[in-house]
Amino acid sequence: MFNIILFGPPGSGKGTQSEKLVEKYGFVHLSTGNLLRDEISRQTPLGTEAKSFIDKGQLVPDEVVIGMVGSFFDKNKEATGFLFDGFPRTVAQAVALDKLLELKKTEIAALLALEVGEDELVKRLLHRGQTSGRSDDTNEEVIRKRFAVYSKETTPVAEHYSNLNKLQRVKGDGTIDGIFGLLCSAIDTKKK
Ligand code: AP5
Ligand code: MG
Repeated sequence: MFNIILFGPPGSGKGTQSEKLVEKYGFVHLSTGNLLRDEISRQTPLGTEAKSFIDKGQLVPDEVVIGMVGSFFDKNKEATGFLFDGFPRTVAQAVALDKLLELKKTEIAALLALEVGEDELVKRLLHRGQTSGRSDDTNEEVIRKRFAVYSKETTPVAEHYSNLNKLQRVKGDGTIDGIFGLLCSAIDTKKK
């Protein structure tokens, strides 16, 4: 198996680039944000709990997210590689992920961190908020809260993988195709 974490702040392009990477490399895409939004739209108890956090720009509790990832693995036993998008978002999630992968006799090959300035990110998210229907994109205050949470709780995840020599930074501003090219080179180097 070959597994990658696509990392970066809200609006850095994780979802956009994941779609292209899945098409090129055949990864199974695991976006905890998408899984949570699916639970919300199906009005499940998990979705109702998650919505109260998401609408405020806060993280959904670790045990909820880790449980959901465990079930996702159970449903995707044939996968030859996962692309993690928006997960892990805390060091506790990273440690749990490393353990789950170890049980599958595999590991993270690399964490690719998209780097984009905050003004550009806010611009992208407010723009998307006009059409996406995502409740956490329409209000600049909630967007700023998501950045604050990212910087406090999520950036330590990059350090966790940096300590394992798996962190690779990628310039995340520019054209979508240009950034995709940089990500592909990083992946191809790791795959060799
Ligand atoms: P999640 O869904 O993961 O959202 P996020 O990380 O806040 O990031 P986004 O999905 O908004 O951005 P993205 O990096 O995917 O960028 P995108 O490609 O869409 O999480 C949402 C919430 O769910 C969290 O706040 C939390 O509450 C909860 N949650 C999720 N996972 C969790 C976890 N593991 N633990 C706890 N809670 C969790 O691009 C953004 C926009 O920019 C798009 O409109 C796109 O078209 C545009 N764009 C992309 N690339 C470019 C470019 N190069 N140039 C110009 N525009 C671009
Ligand atoms: Mg996304």
